[in-house]
Amino acid sequence: MTTPTTLVERDQAHWLHPLHHPSAHQTPLIFESGHGIWLRTVDGKEYIDGLAGLWNVLVGHGNTELADAAQQQMSTLAYASSYVGASNLPALELADRLAGWAYPSLNTTFFTSGGAESNESAFKTVRYYWRRLGKPDKVKVISRQHGYHGITLAAMSATGMSAYWPMFEPRVPNFLHIPAPYPFRFPAGQLRDGETVGLAAARLLEEAILREGPETVGAFIAEPVQGAGGVIVPPDDYFPRIREICDQYDVLFIADEVITGFGRTGEWFALNRWGVQPDIMSFAKGVTSGYLPLGGIQISDAIREVIMSAPSGERWMHAYTYSGHPTCCAVANKNLDLLLRLDVAANAKTQGRRLLAGLQGLQAEFEIIGDARGLGLMAAIEFADPQTKQPAQIGEKVRQACMQRGLYTRLIGSDILAFAPPLIMTSEEIDLMLQIVGEAVAAVARDTSR
Ligand SMILES: Cc1ncc(COP(=O)(O)O)c(C=O)c1O
Repeated sequence: MTTPTTLVERDQAHWLHPLHHPSAHQTPLIFESGHGIWLRTVDGKEYIDGLAGLWNVLVGHGNTELADAAQQQMSTLAYASSYVGASNLPALELADRLAGWAYPSLNTTFFTSGGAESNESAFKTVRYYWRRLGKPDKVKVISRQHGYHGITLAAMSATGMSAYWPMFEPRVPNFLHIPAPYPFRFPAGQLRDGETVGLAAARLLEEAILREGPETVGAFIAEPVQGAGGVIVPPDDYFPRIREICDQYDVLFIADEVITGFGRTGEWFALNRWGVQPDIMSFAKGVTSGYLPLGGIQISDAIREVIMSAPSGERWMHAYTYSGHPTCCAVANKNLDLLLRLDVAANAKTQGRRLLAGLQGLQAEFEIIGDARGLGLMAAIEFADPQTKQPAQIGEKVRQACMQRGLYTRLIGSDILAFAPPLIMTSEEIDLMLQIVGEAVAAVARDTSR
């Protein structure tokens, strides 16, 4: 092996990246700095960060208030254990601030370092809860196709995107998937007379619970808007019916708000749009705007009571070294100040409408866009024949064309281009993004019609 010299060679020689395959890492962008919605590479190129990092950099890049908060906490007390019997000021302040904010019945937080750890904590808490209530067989977790819940073993097993599974089989038993409320691709054969997609997709949950036996089903987990699986926005009648079904069969409802939490959809927490409260909520990403790793679960008062009233031999024996990390929590506290001061949820609502209207305009203009969808500042266009829904297989070309014009974003599968920029986007910045997407689609459409 020759000694690697360039940055790319050094990276390729020694770094195994997430979702690694060398074919996809021949010419990586090496990011060096960021400011607001912009990212800059070592060779001086600038890109709009169309996915806000990985859906998480809510306040944009280069925020010195967050950097100062980290610096201050690190020089005061960078780390301390938070195992039972110990606590620290930033974490207890954060738990206090989060209490009841997302949903009135969620007043208790356990901290993790990210989304998969949060969902692992949720799954274990579900088992714990039912075991304490004398129902130890309620261990099955139902999730949806196209759902993404992280890729530790149990979270990967809940994830409903089969591309993540094959080389890591067998999956953890007792995780099942049902179809998603995906209006563009919901199979017509699944609809009963007069039934809406939302109610049909919810009925599939009820049928799955009955098929498995309610005495074996512990929880249902869902992202309010499916993100990594394709930005799938459920119809308005879906989640209210899901809540009823969970209540009817004693199934806990876990909301995975790792992407949707903290303003992304135009609500501070997404299920409020439908007036629905979960029993457990997972969060991560936006809680620190991605400046430091932090996540967590919030549990309902009922679950809390079961934990608090346990005899010591049945304690909730779950823990992470970095749970309640003082520096991460200090950054989160400052980030919450910023999110509230900038009122990013309201901005996501306003700018999200502008983004969606623009994408729908492009759909009307270009035949190859089969669907344009979004809620708040998470949106996508899907390249497919509008009638047959056959994928157009041009997503990568459009993504490249966007990159050439200064927009960096992510392709989902072969044909879904996702947009989830920082929540500080202005109207002018949305328009610039739309202009780039329009030019990129036009260029690819011209090429493919030749
Ligand atoms: C909805 C959802 N849940 C969980 C995760 C996993 O989070 P992490 O990558 O921090 O483990 C993600 C990551 O994208 C996500 O989008």
